[in-house]
Amino acid sequence: MSLNIVVMAAGKGTRMKSARPKVLHALAGRPLLQHVLDACAPLAAARTVLVTGHGAADIEARFGAGALHCVRQEPQLGTGHAVQQAVPALDDAAPTTLILNGDVPLIRAETARALAAACGGERLALLTIELADATGYGRVLRDAAGGVAGIVEHKDASAAQRAIREVYTGMMAAPTAALKRWVGALTNDNAQREYYLTDIVAMAVAEGVPVAATQAADETEVLGVNSPAQLADLERRLQRAQADALMEAGVRLADPARFDLRGSLHCGQDVEIDLNCVFEGRVVLGDGVRIGANCVLRDCEVAAGAVVHPFCHLEGAKVGAGALVGPFARLRPGTELGPEVHIGNFVEVKNSTLAAGAKANHLAYLGDATVGERVNYGAGSITANYDGANKHRTVIGADVHVGSNCVLVAPITVGEGATIGGGSTVSKSVPAGRLTVVRAPQTTIADWQRPRKTKG
Ligand code: UD1
Ligand code: MG
Repeated sequence: MSLNIVVMAAGKGTRMKSARPKVLHALAGRPLLQHVLDACAPLAAARTVLVTGHGAADIEARFGAGALHCVRQEPQLGTGHAVQQAVPALDDAAPTTLILNGDVPLIRAETARALAAACGGERLALLTIELADATGYGRVLRDAAGGVAGIVEHKDASAAQRAIREVYTGMMAAPTAALKRWVGALTNDNAQREYYLTDIVAMAVAEGVPVAATQAADETEVLGVNSPAQLADLERRLQRAQADALMEAGVRLADPARFDLRGSLHCGQDVEIDLNCVFEGRVVLGDGVRIGANCVLRDCEVAAGAVVHPFCHLEGAKVGAGALVGPFARLRPGTELGPEVHIGNFVEVKNSTLAAGAKANHLAYLGDATVGERVNYGAGSITANYDGANKHRTVIGADVHVGSNCVLVAPITVGEGATIGGGSTVSKSVPAGRLTVVRAPQTTIADWQRPRKTKG
């Protein structure tokens, strides 16, 4: 079935009290509007029209490229006026037009598809829900036979109408040609002096066009975001749902209420995740991986059996099978740890590969380095990879032992099996298999006296 979709996103979002347009606020790491557009994608609409107004330039900069058709609504005179702006951009060959809100992010594709199907290019289909507290919503009015007669906005409703619990969610599907006619005939003769999209319901009834009210199965998917508190509430609902899905798949979360996924997380069998971890981008955890408390992982792959101890920050890193990371380690983009590598506390690794069994256990920096198998990289040692203008590589052969507090001034190569004495600043390449020490010889001055404070 060929379809138009209109997403209304011109409203101010006053209650967010933010300089950022409301629909650009993030839910689980993605803008609210992105959630709506992602739900639309499987419907493969002939035309998707986004109505922008407040913050239009920011929203168009983020979403304007590609197939999305942006129209501006200036000033914003109500939801009916918003759809009026979209009308010229609609594809007349698509008999059904689905209307969604940019600030109702958790609408599911199946629900949107069912709403469009309920319209079928012939009927006006409304998505409704029963709410215990319907304050602020448009109420669904029904005639004696139970058919939908219209929608009355909260501010225009009588006390008796305000007692109605069935509300309009703000989402509908209408026959395209009729929708064009109806929104063209709207007036703003109401409490808010706005052009209400909801007034088209009474027009449909008057014309004898059937009106269907479809009840949403789940409250969460029709909740809108108007305030930081509502945004946080939806975030917790979405996070809980994601946590439940992972646990259903066998992932052991220490506490599903203290787990945040802002992207995708793919887990093998017997994965354990302790409290307060945040996963961003695309994260893959192999069988038996354990993630300690308070870790942040963004765009990472952690192979089977590896352990990330508490308080680690990993971004753009690959961690090999059986590796141990942390606590308090930082892996930056381009880090690739081989199997059984150990990275200890206060160690930072960037754009470096460490081969199987290499260890950097304490207070170290490895940047732009290639580290061989079984290398032991001592406490406090660093690669000086930046000369103030360019980055250079450090290559450390297999079985090298770098003592504590060394500076390896790149570019430099350390031959296999070499040992570098602690405290060395090494700026020339180091031969294999030997001990290299770059250090002033130790001297003891026998008759030296400590200075004394002069009197007076
Ligand atoms: C609307 C419905 C109400 C329903 C409620 C559900 C109308 C008249 N009322 O009311 O029946 O119960 O949603 O949440 O439609 N927008 C524009 N341009 C405008 C005004 C709004 O693009 O000029 C957009 C907003 O950005 C938002 C959506 O339309 O995405 C809904 O607007 P909002 O002001 O929240 O409508 P409500 O008064 O809540
Ligand atoms: Mg609203």
